[in-house]
Amino acid sequence: MSEQVYLDKSLNVDVYPPLKRALELVENSLPKVAVDAGCGAGRDAMYMVEHGYTVHAYDKSDAAILRLKEVGGRHIDNTLFPKTCSFEQFEYPQTTLVNACSSLFFCDPALFAGAWQRLTNSLQKGGVFCGHFMGPDDTWAKMGRGDLTIHSYADIQALFNDEFKVIDIVEHNTDGTTLLGKSKHWHVYAVVAQKVI
Ligand SMILES: C[S@@+](CC[C@H](N)C(=O)[O-])C[C@H]1O[C@@H](n2cnc3c(N)ncnc32)[C@H](O)[C@@H]1O
Repeated sequence: MSEQVYLDKSLNVDVYPPLKRALELVENSLPKVAVDAGCGAGRDAMYMVEHGYTVHAYDKSDAAILRLKEVGGRHIDNTLFPKTCSFEQFEYPQTTLVNACSSLFFCDPALFAGAWQRLTNSLQKGGVFCGHFMGPDDTWAKMGRGDLTIHSYADIQALFNDEFKVIDIVEHNTDGTTLLGKSKHWHVYAVVAQKVI
């Protein structure tokens, strides 16, 4: 029930600034092929489709993918390809844009390294990553749940060290609410980075 409410609400929120920035950065000469990793109901996937991309959108939740298939309309199997899958198992096509807004920190920490390698390998030179990482001050990180991947600022720099030019790392460390209205402290880093190799 709350997942359906969440999915509905997520469709009525504006896309995150890192995605808007990323779309400006992908060079025009590159093919417009994107992945939305942990796409939820697909607000960002639809935004990328509307900006001329062929979008492969995956989420581990069947309910989310069903919702995306409803909202995707005529784009489904044309320029939008939704799939139920996990970060660690998704077979990426070659991409020029990977969006992981508010999703990748849900990856099992034991599986993150492999999932990250798959994701970054898919990006061709000049392609752009945008997404969020969760910092150690977040309420959920402090709960020690064990099912979230937490990154410090230095961890994030290391992730992008070799193959990327980091365009932006914006830290949000502030009290707020979830989309379902529950109070929590958010500590997330919004990252935009361009593949240079
Ligand atoms: C906070 S929601 C964000 C959804 C979407 N990116 C958005 O901004 O509306 C996080 C999403 O990550 C998905 N997710 C969690 N763990 C996942 C995993 N291991 N593999 C793929 N998706 C996952 C959830 O099902 C959920 O839809």
